[in-house]
Amino acid sequence: MSDTSFLEVGDLVAIASDHAGFALKTILKGDLHAMGLSVVDLGPEDETSVDYPDFGQKLAKAVAEGLAKAGVLVCGTGIGISIAANREPRVRAALVHSAVTAEMARAHNDANVMAVGARVTEEETARACLKTFFNTPFEGGRHARRVEKLGAA
Ligand code: RB5
Repeated sequence: MSDTSFLEVGDLVAIASDHAGFALKTILKGDLHAMGLSVVDLGPEDETSVDYPDFGQKLAKAVAEGLAKAGVLVCGTGIGISIAANREPRVRAALVHSAVTAEMARAHNDANVMAVGARVTEEETARACLKTFFNTPFEGGRHARRVEKLGAA
């Protein structure tokens, strides 16, 4: 973690997926550990078919209640699981597909959850998104006013 990150070494990050995101979840979990973060894996434990809302909501609850400082979600497209997470008011889940969108999600939107689609994003791109997301601080200023308007910060 760089000193401009929004997390400290040892902070707890939650990660979850559905069956389509399981393999990429395992890879991203390793990368989070390598960044010096503690990781809680909220499942699933294998590629058996599951429903993405169950895991998106479970992770969102963990972040909203402060059990985890941030989260990572993976499903086939990243769409369903990010929609599920964003139903929790204190969660700002951003679906990213490039290092630039991952950077903007943090710098402008103060996103606390990164979502990515395993079936539509190359593994190396997803890993670059993760690295950028967790090393980009929120810019604040005019963006703080806008994020505040999203409510339930
Ligand atoms: C599962 O087949 C797929 O629908 C899911 O992973 C995700 O892409 C939904 O948004």
